[in-house]
Amino acid sequence: MTSPVPAQQANMGQPIPRREGRAKVTGAARYAADMPLVNPAIAYLVTSTVAKGRIVSIDDSKARAVPGVLHVMTHRNRPPLKPIKHFFAGGSALTSVAPLAGPEIVHDGQIVAVVTAETFEAAREAAHVLEAAIRYEGRKPSATFGDPGVVEQRTADVIPMRKDPKLGDAEAAFRSAPVVFDAEYATPIQHHNPIELFATSAQWLGDELTVYEPTQFTYGLRSGLAEQLDMPAEKVRVINDFVGGAFGAKGAVTQRSALVALIARQLGRPVKLVATRDQGFTISGHRNETRHRVRLAASRDGRLLAYHHDLWELNGRSDPYVNGGIENAAAMYAFPAVMSTARMVRADRNAPIFMRSPAEVPVIFALESAMDELAVKLAMDPVELRRINDTQKNWVTGKPYTSRHLMECYDAASQAFGWRRRNPQPGSMRDGDWLVGWGCATATYPTLLSTAVARVRLAADGSARVEIAVHDVGTGAYTVVGQMAAECLAIAPDKVTVLIGDTALPPGPVSGGSCTTASACSAIKLACDQIFARLQLSAGASAAQRLAAFERLQLGAIEETGNYVPPSSRSKTTAGLYKGSSDISGGPNADNDSKTMFAFGAEFVEVRIHARTREIRVPRIVGAFAAGRIMNPRTAHSQLMGGMIWGIGSALHEFTEIDRREARYINDNLAEYLIPVNADIGQVDVIFVPEIDGEANPSGAKGIGELGNVGTAAAIANAVFHATGQRIRELPITIDKLIGLAAS
Ligand code: MOS
Repeated sequence: MTSPVPAQQANMGQPIPRREGRAKVTGAARYAADMPLVNPAIAYLVTSTVAKGRIVSIDDSKARAVPGVLHVMTHRNRPPLKPIKHFFAGGSALTSVAPLAGPEIVHDGQIVAVVTAETFEAAREAAHVLEAAIRYEGRKPSATFGDPGVVEQRTADVIPMRKDPKLGDAEAAFRSAPVVFDAEYATPIQHHNPIELFATSAQWLGDELTVYEPTQFTYGLRSGLAEQLDMPAEKVRVINDFVGGAFGAKGAVTQRSALVALIARQLGRPVKLVATRDQGFTISGHRNETRHRVRLAASRDGRLLAYHHDLWELNGRSDPYVNGGIENAAAMYAFPAVMSTARMVRADRNAPIFMRSPAEVPVIFALESAMDELAVKLAMDPVELRRINDTQKNWVTGKPYTSRHLMECYDAASQAFGWRRRNPQPGSMRDGDWLVGWGCATATYPTLLSTAVARVRLAADGSARVEIAVHDVGTGAYTVVGQMAAECLAIAPDKVTVLIGDTALPPGPVSGGSCTTASACSAIKLACDQIFARLQLSAGASAAQRLAAFERLQLGAIEETGNYVPPSSRSKTTAGLYKGSSDISGGPNADNDSKTMFAFGAEFVEVRIHARTREIRVPRIVGAFAAGRIMNPRTAHSQLMGGMIWGIGSALHEFTEIDRREARYINDNLAEYLIPVNADIGQVDVIFVPEIDGEANPSGAKGIGELGNVGTAAAIANAVFHATGQRIRELPITIDKLIGLAAS
């Protein structure tokens, strides 16, 4: 296994340990629900037991009679809240369905009441009593694809910004091409299941509100709450020192937060809510299920001639959520003709939300499976098929990549894996009772950039402080933010104090789209450059020169604020960030003069499938990644290793089942929602391919948080085909799909 503390290579920072590592492993780290509050009341949610219909009656008398109960809120007594918009409609909300707004039910598990009591036990008991005293008039819901009542729409008709990628005359290419491949793929519903549950604590001091919540966007939550509560945003403060996993599920304003704030105001004391694991399946979002039709046209020698990717993704009815991703896929190879179309299918479901590599996990699974299938059809090595069709520009937009080292990743990973020893014949690498399969696929993630503001203070004694409201969702943000400031100021990392996760600080980006490091570090670099400019020093100045400069200016410290606005930014200013509006750009779109920006990787896996039981194991996986500057090889290693392990889960384990009669998630717990555990994971190797990108952004970094789990599922599906001759085009790949199929 590669070392978790990889050596520093070209264009990498030092592999320093995490700042918060000791606090986390000793339990000293305080998450939102751990924040000490004086005499808090405890809230407990009640959620709907039907997916569509209305509440006919609620008898809350028995719930109110439970000893210790302080407050019961339903749609009948909820104080006014202003509506807020969905984040694809210019707002910051997960859903525009306002909480406890009326008796209407639009999805299963919708919040229908909040019970608050002196203790968690009393609140929970009263919530169960209340749940039994709610009568619904239910109607038959549409659960998913193919159900009566679903509505299909072209994504571009709903969200005009989401244009379908089109290039050349693809239909003509499909008619005349010597080789055409055509297949359908499917991916399931998945839930993020961060270990830290969805929690909100609210505390009022006069007319000022403090909220402790694990959010990926403190400023977004602040402005969303202020808007709902009709109060100035300056009077709301959102704090989270740590976020115990988020993966997209904590990126938007959910319905619960304003309710907790309202109850705290009514009770005149702090209120704490920690939703249960099963409630977490419906009070935030999920990865929606997708369907794909992929066609590839090629010459006999493997040159791609056309690409057609039709995508269907499931959505609720309330809001215009989409993952998309066909535009990213169209940028992957030298496709001279493209005809792809994205559609959304509306059902009686809660709104989905981003989940780690939201677009790429499903779309690249389909494309990279299809590439492997095409290679089989052409009797060509799948790595060579990628090499022949590698490109340094996005053919659809014509814009070049700022940097792209995909084939270098393939070369590094295939060598480490031993790919040249592979016998391409399916089923040929049997080892006793085990069918051995080797497969590979491309990993990719767009380099997305947000506006960001960072304040840096450098003192004459060489100590510094950096302040930016980014969030440490487990990624190492504390460490990397401090490291960037230390590097730019030429001081030791332990001389830097790092403050993040608080709207009292300048606004960082939403912790989404893997944009934190590149965006925050670019803002930090600007602030540090400004400090050196005021000191009239060059970046490499010594401690003595720094001290002399402070003497000359007669200053003890200098503080500067860096405002980073990427060239592709729509707003061209950081002002919107203060108002909680996110401005993320980059990736395939190459607005204005900017280029195409992606990070890449290549993943190789070995699967072993038992010839009789069809048990599937993944004894080893190798990933090589090129993602610009690696700020900290240690935290980066964890990110990519964790991503690949998630990718294994995505391929083999994760799957939210839905009861189609009730439009209800069935396995809404960690006992039945399978994720990989230690025994599922063998050797995981992470290789860094040094890459210098001087164009993407001032920090030189690309995002890596969502890179590692892209392509993994395709690599595994491709390996399963190699082991068995059986092509599984619907995730997850479970034993039942392999039983009774190919002869062993
Ligand atoms: Mo990430 S799914 O963009 O929070």
